[in-house]
Amino acid sequence: MLIVKMTDCQGDAARSPMELYEKLTAQGDKVRSLKTAKAEKAEIDAAVQLLLKLKVDYKQATGQDYKVGCPPSENSLTSENGLAADGNNGDDEVNPWSVSTNNAKGVDYDKLIVRFGSSKIDQELVDRIEKVTGQKPHHFLRRGIFFSHRDMHQVLDTYEKHKSFFLYTGRGPSSQAMHVGHLIPFIFTKWLQDVFDIPLVVQLTDDEKYLWKDLTLEQCHQFAVENAKDIIACGFDVNKTFIFSDLDYTGASPQFYRNVVKIQKHVTFNQVKGIFGFTDSDCIGKISFPAIQAAPSFSNSFPHIFGDKKDIQCLIPCAIDQDPYFRMTRDVAPRIGYPKPALLHSTFFPALQGAQTKMSASDANSSIFLTDTAKQIKNKINKYAFSGGKDTVEEHRKYGGNVDVDVSFMYLTFFLEDDHKLEKIRQDYTSGALLTGELKKMLIETLQPIIAEHQEQRKQVTDEMVKRFMTPRPLNFNL
Ligand code: TYM
Repeated sequence: MLIVKMTDCQGDAARSPMELYEKLTAQGDKVRSLKTAKAEKAEIDAAVQLLLKLKVDYKQATGQDYKVGCPPSENSLTSENGLAADGNNGDDEVNPWSVSTNNAKGVDYDKLIVRFGSSKIDQELVDRIEKVTGQKPHHFLRRGIFFSHRDMHQVLDTYEKHKSFFLYTGRGPSSQAMHVGHLIPFIFTKWLQDVFDIPLVVQLTDDEKYLWKDLTLEQCHQFAVENAKDIIACGFDVNKTFIFSDLDYTGASPQFYRNVVKIQKHVTFNQVKGIFGFTDSDCIGKISFPAIQAAPSFSNSFPHIFGDKKDIQCLIPCAIDQDPYFRMTRDVAPRIGYPKPALLHSTFFPALQGAQTKMSASDANSSIFLTDTAKQIKNKINKYAFSGGKDTVEEHRKYGGNVDVDVSFMYLTFFLEDDHKLEKIRQDYTSGALLTGELKKMLIETLQPIIAEHQEQRKQVTDEMVKRFMTPRPLNFNL
């Protein structure tokens, strides 16, 4: 289902291969010490049972048998590197170019965690973020919208030692207008920048869009500048944020290009074929592009910000479709002497027609764009938003609606901040007290002012401001 409930009793299958390996090793030690201490039979049996279960989970997660002293290998099925994982999870397809599932409730994110070898964002991690920052966790964290991570505990360890880290996120500028789904990582990144008070780099992959789409270089570059305005309108601090177009920055920064080349030397064609599904007829630009999306994960790609420091930890917030790029990055990082970037993954903001696909800019009717008028928002929601309600008012009142498949309710989980209101809506819709038309009205009244406010903020973004954000320069932060 779309909202991943955060509980302590998550299955061990949802842990990363390395976490499972460590847990298994500890459990093996426990069984041995219980036997040595001649503990009660029931206690030993329970410990052995858990050991066996962990072994099954480990095999399921890695495709390998557990062996003492042999951590999950580079080639494991869902390896931490995930080089062989294509994100095709039974019926669920999740990769940078396509997200689809047959399930009306959306992608099975718990299974995806196992398949990709990431870790679930559990209540313990949410609590720790609250403790470290002293701030109430963002509702994207409280509601499991950001549901998966890699090495976030390590980031918090670093931060607790008063060492800084930096944020990196991005956008592929394929059109003038971004949709509401694209806002999700930027809204969350802005929150992270505020609560941790750290620098941010934003990559606009106009080169990627030129390689993948039927667009000219000039169009892609112009979309990058237009999209930068939407990103700036999210409220980022100009003193702590560098936004760059690949077409401009990669040519102007020798250090960035040196990192690209290092990455290119350490990843084979076979590996990128395995990760991204490239074929012999793909142009060579696509094949080498992943190195360009990987390079900003390393601090010395930005000498004007970090000097020659190559060991500053990077944290990447994005939706989980971008993970293949960063599995590759994390695999290559230690081999070129850099720290692995950490990640925070979000679920997808679904298409209006249902959670079987993510909202996509290439289908105008599936998306609410940041340029839509109040009237367009109202019409699209009323006309297209898939409803979990019953066919007639009588049936709906009697049996209630299904929030697990209802797109309006899903959208409210992203944009209605008030937890109590959301819970009341969930209960009323499920019981049948609230009708589909009324739920849609609530969504329309929630979204219209948010989009109008965004449009207002964007109007304030001048060319001069864009230039400032996009000029390589030192940023203001304490390390
Ligand atoms: P792009 O432009 O496809 O998407 C930009 C960001 O939005 C996320 N996203 C979504 N999030 C929630 N719901 C959706 N329906 C949805 N659709 C897209 C994406 O995961 C992404 O975080 N190659 C990248 C650009 C890029 C990048 C990065 C992204 C370069 N470096 C580092 C994230 C982190 C792209 O084309 O993103």
